[in-house]
Amino acid sequence: MKKLVINTSDAKSVINKNIYGHFSEHLGRCIYGGLYVGEGSDIPNKAGMRAAAVDALRHIRAPVLRWPGGCFADEYHWMDGIGPAGARKRMVNTHWGGVTEDNSFGTHEFMELCEQIGCEPYVNGNLGSGTVREMSEWVEYMTGDGLSPMSELRKQNGRADPWKLKYFCVGNENWGCGGNMRPEFYADQYRRYQTYLRSYGGNKIYKIACGANSFDYDWTDKVMANATRYMDAISLHYYTVPFDWRDKGSATDFGEDAYYMTLQKGLRMEELISRHLGVMDKYDQEHRVGVIVDEWGAWYNVEPGTNPGFLYQQNTMRDAVLAALTFDIFNAHADRVVMANIAQTVNVLQSVILTEGDKTILTPTYHVFDLYKEHQDATAVSHWIESDEVGAGDAKVPRLSATASIKGGTLTATITNTSATENASIDCELIGVGKALPPENICGKVLMGAINAMNDFDSPDKVTIKSLEGIEATSVGAGNCANIRFTLPACSVAAISLKL
Ligand code: AHR
Repeated sequence: MKKLVINTSDAKSVINKNIYGHFSEHLGRCIYGGLYVGEGSDIPNKAGMRAAAVDALRHIRAPVLRWPGGCFADEYHWMDGIGPAGARKRMVNTHWGGVTEDNSFGTHEFMELCEQIGCEPYVNGNLGSGTVREMSEWVEYMTGDGLSPMSELRKQNGRADPWKLKYFCVGNENWGCGGNMRPEFYADQYRRYQTYLRSYGGNKIYKIACGANSFDYDWTDKVMANATRYMDAISLHYYTVPFDWRDKGSATDFGEDAYYMTLQKGLRMEELISRHLGVMDKYDQEHRVGVIVDEWGAWYNVEPGTNPGFLYQQNTMRDAVLAALTFDIFNAHADRVVMANIAQTVNVLQSVILTEGDKTILTPTYHVFDLYKEHQDATAVSHWIESDEVGAGDAKVPRLSATASIKGGTLTATITNTSATENASIDCELIGVGKALPPENICGKVLMGAINAMNDFDSPDKVTIKSLEGIEATSVGAGNCANIRFTLPACSVAAISLKL
């Protein structure tokens, strides 16, 4: 029996709902054929958006969607994607698969998609190959409310009112695909470009600087040293690659060694966030600047027979556990991690949705977003979990991980059992709850399966959320605390809600 202690009266930070954000790029079948099927499609859609994907994203209350890239962002010229669809420029998507990009999904379509999902748009501007004017005019086009050339153009294209746009990032991975810049050079470019991102009318742009690749603390140091006062947040990208970049390993065909190795590498997110925050502290003692992990997730070899440039991979319980552990890290840093965006929403990398023709399925990772959704905008409360290590060979990870938060009088505790083979019995003590909770106030759900259990187009519901049976509420103990006891199956993620 392992102990979990939750102190319901020790409030921490509010967990920004945007930690549960998404990222969708013009890459493979994420936008085209995935989220966007076109109005003429036989696949059920509204204004061209795949209805099943929109419904699924609404269900998990997707709070924010980043677009159009990724590496694509620094090659994207937004004017190519406005105006009558048939007259839009066609180009080659040189980064991803060399396929034709017909620009039928552009600014208007992205904003429509966000409106349908009910999420905030997060736009990534082109610094690498675009001009200051182009970036400035894009913001004017989307948000300009007065008489101006770009708001007139928007009106001509059928949208009278400006959109509300808060989140805007100046370039993507400018240390790599976004121009191979040195951090000092990027910082100067950032200062210049952001100057012309105007806030029109009631719209205020929240400016995001391109941050580091994984462990590159020098990038954070130099960009912060030179540009802190011009930014609201800085990004960070980290992908979990079980082996190495040349052979990343299969998404589905793996054993316990690769399972634990993946989790162990994923858990390095904690070190990354702590150390980048430490560097930021040198230049931002008041903690005004937030961190946005706008690309994270597992990256495996593509599914056999698929276009290597499309980054299509399946998704298993390993990914579900990885997502839960990652959320626990973000939630623990909720005072400074203001957003995160999984890469990517549909059909690319650690997707929450996979599609094949008219079929749409939800991945194990999707269900973790569902289990964690009550943490959105809830207040984290302190917890302590008794946890030894489990693993294979050198790859060791904590057996258990958790987040606890309170919103509207309900406590949500999400708990993960990383062990591939062993169930875990938990005795959970709720400090600050001086009464035994009646059974009707307690509800448990669980996602579980073998480490490589997955959903596919023939069996879409193999891995889904089930009710967690057998939660026992014990009477108020000696410490005047309510207790509950339950068992977590091996390789599982659970959410328990308690009406206090
Ligand atoms: O998500 C796939 C790619 O990974 C993105 O385009 C890029 O920003 C990162 O390297």
